[in-house]
Amino acid sequence: MPRINPIVPLSGALLALVLVGVSACAADRAEPPAIETRVGPDVRLEAGLALAGRYCASCHAVAAGRDSPRPMAPPFPVLAARLTGPALEESLTMVSDLGHGEMPPARLGQAELRDLAVYIDSLD
Ligand code: HEC
Repeated sequence: MPRINPIVPLSGALLALVLVGVSACAADRAEPPAIETRVGPDVRLEAGLALAGRYCASCHAVAAGRDSPRPMAPPFPVLAARLTGPALEESLTMVSDLGHGEMPPARLGQAELRDLAVYIDSLD
């Protein structure tokens, strides 16, 4: 059966993935509190600002005291005043996944979206 051949290396790769996953979990368990202390708010703020500058600043004012380049796009301090916490993250996820206005989907990862949310939340 020639059809079976490609499956063998694939299942080998899957097994490798599972093993990597398992050992990654084991490593996590070895140092439980590491993540939040290493990626503190300041790191997130800076990452969020950088993301906003790269993906959003062509239309939105991404800092206080400026007008948006696109008048229709709400300045980020205005967004910050309107949305916080989970509502903000949800809105960012929608905007990133689906695109909005003339913006194509940015498809940011979850960590990036969280960084952006931390940054925007800091503006109000
Ligand atoms: C091409 C221009 C453009 C870019 C780039 C852009 N936006 Fe927007 N954005 C708009 C416009 C225009 C609106 C208002 C109309 C609308 O909601 O479609 C808007 C609205 C929004 C809203 C409000 C949606 C709501 O619920 O009212 C959020 C949140 C937002 N943008 C986030 C972002 C983020 C985060 C980025 C960068 C990752 C970004 N935008 C990049 C043009 C843009």
